[in-house]
Amino acid sequence: MRAWRVGPSGDPGNPGSPGVRSQLVVGEIPKPDPGPGEVLVRVHAAGVTTAELGWHPTTHTKAGATRVSAVPGHEFSGVVAAVGPGTTGVAAGQPVYGMNDWFDDGATADYCITRPEWIAPKPPRLTHAEAASVPIGALTAWQGLFDRAQLRAGERVLVHGGSGAVGIYAVLFARRHGARVVATASARNEEFLLRLGCERVIDYKTGRFEESVKGIDVVFDTVGGKTLERSWGVLAPNGRLVTIASDGEGTRDERTKKAFFIVEPRREQLVVIADLIEAREIQPVVDAVAPFTQAGAAYAGEIKERLGRGKVVVKVTC
Ligand SMILES: NC(=O)c1ccc[n+]([C@@H]2O[C@H](COP(=O)([O-])OP(=O)(O)OC[C@H]3O[C@@H](n4cnc5c(N)ncnc54)[C@H](OP(=O)(O)O)[C@@H]3O)[C@@H](O)[C@H]2O)c1
Repeated sequence: MRAWRVGPSGDPGNPGSPGVRSQLVVGEIPKPDPGPGEVLVRVHAAGVTTAELGWHPTTHTKAGATRVSAVPGHEFSGVVAAVGPGTTGVAAGQPVYGMNDWFDDGATADYCITRPEWIAPKPPRLTHAEAASVPIGALTAWQGLFDRAQLRAGERVLVHGGSGAVGIYAVLFARRHGARVVATASARNEEFLLRLGCERVIDYKTGRFEESVKGIDVVFDTVGGKTLERSWGVLAPNGRLVTIASDGEGTRDERTKKAFFIVEPRREQLVVIADLIEAREIQPVVDAVAPFTQAGAAYAGEIKERLGRGKVVVKVTC
């Protein structure tokens, strides 16, 4: 089968830098066989998370050894092609969307392996490209707001990076839950975020959010660095902060360590999210759809025709 992989050097370079494109290579690899409890998915489309190329599971095995030739893209939409021995709850021919394990080969390939507990029926009204844009963004927002921050109706939320693939869902879910939301984003995304229900949008390029925002119950940070550091001071006395930015993983700062989390695939949450999509309560935002041949360019941030918000997706089937 066709698959994009991290190049033979095993060094994905700096994601987003011009060099990374040459670090992803396309070629033929054996089609995987689903083992016990596993599902083989014929991938129709896969989401692009560029930072993933630098993450620990892309360059290391679970045991800590160096990993080479990882297939990127761990969210997808497709059709179940086969199930392994003893696998229940899904059947060949079923359209599904979801994620797989960061340590396994991803979905920027004709097929990928996943498990029933990591996928759910694809929302029927979406195209595969739209459905592939949902899992990581929506699950990360859901888990950050509800599992970690325990958001309550009426609370005030600040979403950093509100126009990003994760931030859009954080805004949508917080609003739907009855929270009041302020977001940081570029000025060009202000109108869009006001339409999603934000009370206010702060242009991070020209303003400092901490000068006009105080008493925040939940900060949802997708940016990290100085933005994260400056966010502690805007929290209300019982305020909570969650961060998903990569620099949270290796931090020595105890409170940042506690605030950081990594999204997990969860079938029951994907089912609820699909129901919200079918009810038209939320609408995925696709930044661009790149053909399979352009996946390397997508990971290098070189796709020119973009909406300027939401998720870039690679279309695997024609
Ligand atoms: N830990 C996890 O489980 C997990 C899961 C998913 C993603 N992530 C990580 O989380 C981060 C965000 O992911 P994403 O997919 O949402 O990224 P994205 O789609 O690239 O969005 C990032 C957004 O941040 C905004 N932004 C950039 N600099 C900013 C600043 N200084 N202040 C406020 N906003 C700023 C940009 O807004 P404008 O375009 O409006 O300028 C952009 O839309 C990435 O580092 C990703 O690797 C982690």
